[in-house]
Amino acid sequence: MSMLRTLPDAFIPELPGRYNGKVRENYDLPDGRRIIIATDRISAFDRVLAAIPFKGQVLTQTARYWFEQTADICPNHVLEYPDPNVVVGTRLDILPVEIVVRGYLAGTTSTSILTKYRAGERSMYGMRLPDGLRDNERLPQPVITPTSKAFDGGHDEPLSAADILEQGLLTADQWERVSAHALALFARGQARAAERGLILADTKYEFGTDAAGNIILADEIHTPDSSRYWIASSYEEAFEKGSRPASFDKDVVRAWVTARCDPYRDTVPEIPLDVIEHTSRVYIDAYEAITGEAFVPDLTGETVLARIRANLAPYFT
Ligand SMILES: Nc1ncnc2c1ncn2[C@@H]1O[C@H](COP(=O)(O)OP(=O)(O)OP(=O)(O)O)[C@@H](O)[C@H]1O
Ligand SMILES: [Mg+2]
Repeated sequence: MSMLRTLPDAFIPELPGRYNGKVRENYDLPDGRRIIIATDRISAFDRVLAAIPFKGQVLTQTARYWFEQTADICPNHVLEYPDPNVVVGTRLDILPVEIVVRGYLAGTTSTSILTKYRAGERSMYGMRLPDGLRDNERLPQPVITPTSKAFDGGHDEPLSAADILEQGLLTADQWERVSAHALALFARGQARAAERGLILADTKYEFGTDAAGNIILADEIHTPDSSRYWIASSYEEAFEKGSRPASFDKDVVRAWVTARCDPYRDTVPEIPLDVIEHTSRVYIDAYEAITGEAFVPDLTGETVLARIRANLAPYFT
């Protein structure tokens, strides 16, 4: 991995208030801003599997594209982009509910509606799905399937609107506002994606509140890490055959790992270079397909971290 130009970590001792997330390193400045550095880490099965060249730049720039495309729908946390891997935003109180929106019966994790549906469940997330739906079928309308936001690496649990209100996670007014925002953002995402030959099948939003109680879109939006995209031209045939439509996601690395071990129990063997390089290509292809722009890797600086350090020097305290 040392031969690749990657950003596996972004520890910058001159910056205060560090929170090391699974993928992004966060620094809270005393003036209420939050610096969010997207590293190249790829995480799955609750662990970091590898560093993928340019993944952090792809994620930051994909989110930037979508923040700009949706700024008329709802306010977002963005203040500035001092580096291709970095967004500086308003630090918010993140609401303890992740707003997952799904347009299709899809997914592989235990909280995904396809997994539950296949296990015979019809009532989930406070809604009822009809019998007879098939894998990856388009839902009559997009649905919100919220999960608890497990801070500090815990597991996300499915919630219904009733759970959210009963547990006091959100007020009725907050729930109404985030739901409306999420559905409008998703509709915009699906429409723009369709113009580019893509299907935005599902995604996850995080919202927070500012000091005045306003609800603001935080975190990332419609990135390959937070979303499932399908190639629209592959959908019909795949759906008819009952197979998964073509997509760009973490499946190459995930598949390589699950073919070799139980990632929740065993030590994961080192991911080979060709798998890492392939995955890098997948992320770059995703950026280009989603935005319609050529990806221009930032190769300035001795290392990615050296470049970011230089660009963030004005924020040092
Ligand atoms: N504007 C913001 N203000 C405060 N926190 C934010 C803001 N935007 C994003 N965050 C939080 O910053 C972190 C981003 O880092 P990352 O996504 O890598 O963490 P994570 O491992 O997913 O952490 P977590 O398990 O808490 O989600 C998340 O915890 C996210 O909720
Ligand atoms: Mg996160």
